[in-house]
Amino acid sequence: MLRAGNPEARLSGVRRRALIAGLGAVFAGVALAAWWQRPRLFAAGYDRLCASAERGWMGERRAALLDAARGTVLEIGAGTGSNLDHYPPLERLILSEPSPHMRRRLANRAAAAGLRVEVLDAAAEDLPLPDDSVDTVVVTLVLCSVPDVGAAIAEIRRVLRPDGRLLMIEHVRGEGRVARAQDLADRVWPHLAQGCHPNRDTAAAVAAAGFSRIEAERFVPPERVGPLIPHVAGTYRPA
Ligand SMILES: C[S@@+](CC[C@H](N)C(=O)[O-])C[C@H]1O[C@@H](n2cnc3c(N)ncnc32)[C@H](O)[C@@H]1O
Repeated sequence: MLRAGNPEARLSGVRRRALIAGLGAVFAGVALAAWWQRPRLFAAGYDRLCASAERGWMGERRAALLDAARGTVLEIGAGTGSNLDHYPPLERLILSEPSPHMRRRLANRAAAAGLRVEVLDAAAEDLPLPDDSVDTVVVTLVLCSVPDVGAAIAEIRRVLRPDGRLLMIEHVRGEGRVARAQDLADRVWPHLAQGCHPNRDTAAAVAAAGFSRIEAERFVPPERVGPLIPHVAGTYRPA
């Protein structure tokens, strides 16, 4: 047995502390690297994260919505290209996406599907397109994440032709206890999910920006957390 004061005991204590400090440093380094790389990790994990919803309810919602896409279509925040499988034949498809990690996956997916698309490095708040130049704007799970939702919807309105359509699927603010839970989640969630705000009242923002609803359905996804994240799927036109 080694007694306190014994040089060997002191050495083993020093070794233990050094080991703990080393492991702590490695853990902190990995956590810091993951935090630094989170846009890349978010893009890399996105399809896997959404796979089951895409095979089921979300894929069905996308297909039903995008059937109405016509003419020159601008999809904003196109991500990894989850909508690409669901478009009907189009005159022109423009995909805007500000994240380089998402954009690389988007371009690869479009190329693998043999689609002729234009991929733009652009944020919703500043679209490099002329006024009244687009027949259909598509946003799916994007307006929750844009830093300035008012500016984004104003830009959508600017580029959309007066007889154009906005096609949208977004998760939205709930009511009562659901809204309160979303407000609570909003303190943490945007830091984990690339700026996504669970409590944003996107349908109200679209209406306030001067869009009228042609048809829209509010629904709760058939998932365990579905009631906490009500969605709206709808078609709108400039009022
Ligand atoms: C949750 S993902 C949705 C991707 C895709 N629209 C979908 O339906 O799967 C949110 C996307 O919005 C993009 N985004 C974030 N801020 C944006 C902005 N200011 N303008 C346009 N897109 C933005 C992100 O880069 C990301 O690709």
